[in-house]
Amino acid sequence: MIKPMQAFDKTDKYSNNNGLNSANQFSVAPMLDWTNRHCRYFHRQLSQNAWLYSEMVTTGAIIYGDNLERFLGHNESEMPVVLQLGGSGSKDLATCAELGEEWGYSEINLNVGCPSDRVQNNMIGACLMAHPELVAENVRAMKSVVDIPVTVKTRIGIDEQEDFSILRDFVGGLADAGVDGMIIHARKAWLEGLSPKENRDIPPLKYDWVHRIKAEFPDLSIAINGGLKTIEQSQVHLTSYEELPAVDGVMLGRTAYEQPFLLSEVDHHFYGEEVNQTLTRVSVLETMYPYIENHIANGGKLNQVTRHMLGLFYSLPGGRIWRRYLSENAHKPGAGVEVVQQAYQLVSDEMLRMEDQA
Ligand SMILES: Cc1cc2nc3c(=O)[nH]c(=O)nc-3n(C[C@H](O)[C@H](O)[C@H](O)COP(=O)(O)O)c2cc1C
Repeated sequence: MIKPMQAFDKTDKYSNNNGLNSANQFSVAPMLDWTNRHCRYFHRQLSQNAWLYSEMVTTGAIIYGDNLERFLGHNESEMPVVLQLGGSGSKDLATCAELGEEWGYSEINLNVGCPSDRVQNNMIGACLMAHPELVAENVRAMKSVVDIPVTVKTRIGIDEQEDFSILRDFVGGLADAGVDGMIIHARKAWLEGLSPKENRDIPPLKYDWVHRIKAEFPDLSIAINGGLKTIEQSQVHLTSYEELPAVDGVMLGRTAYEQPFLLSEVDHHFYGEEVNQTLTRVSVLETMYPYIENHIANGGKLNQVTRHMLGLFYSLPGGRIWRRYLSENAHKPGAGVEVVQQAYQLVSDEMLRMEDQA
């Protein structure tokens, strides 16, 4: 039996929200170039409760960049949103965590999972698993300046780290440093020889390791991530798994992005809410129209929003037509909301045609 998760109190964003954080809830993973503010606004139309993540933002971009709005700007209605930071300098991380809190984020998360060469050279991401004391110091530094939760997203190991005890000691150090929750991508990262994309598919998934971590740290919020494709598959981890304790939360990345309508089931299946009969693909589109119009009126481009919506009709008749029409037309100069309406018209026509054939 899965215990319903408790909804985030959006009216009380500066409290610690009863100790809630993304690791004991349902969340959509941070994804560079994907989970920006437009994507999050769209996802929020599908679930009121899922925790949404920013893309990873490096401390350098925040501290030395000249455009805080670009890196930290978000819409109030996206809450709860986690700001994911990339970095390893404790002073810089503390400065950025403080700024994140000032800008209204609900949680700060440190990226200890990204295997890209580019970030390794700057001591960011998964390579930090080789420096557990530094990461613990990073957590302590951020915790000392913010009231919102501080979590860490990590892998189960890197390179030659074969032993479960290495992961256990890594998490133990962070628990001692006061980390509020851990999100664990249940596969290792190979820092040499695999691209970031390969590192998301090739190293085998070891879900049991994440549950073993929960067994070792029963009081720490632990979420599982990696390769989850359906709501049912995700819920398996919220009950005991191979006789190991349930974890507290699940994080979905690619599936949520590629099949976003799956998020419309989250509030019911994870938060125990009544099925929302009025939430349909069409109702979501209707909430997106004013958002898109406003974005364009402020100088934005249609495809900056619609590129995150290409999966809305995933696996339905017309789904390909929708994707193709938007991909071919949303980038054209002057393209406005009527392009989305026309794409939807084509989907409806296709659905009717299929019905007639049936
Ligand atoms: C396009 C893309 C960009 C990603 N960027 C980030 C990132 O900025 N920070 C991070 O911690 N993980 C990043 N990831 C990894 C995801 O957060 C997640 O851990 C991974 O995709 C495994 O989950 P999934 O199998 O549900 O997709 C990215 C993944 C993808 C596909």
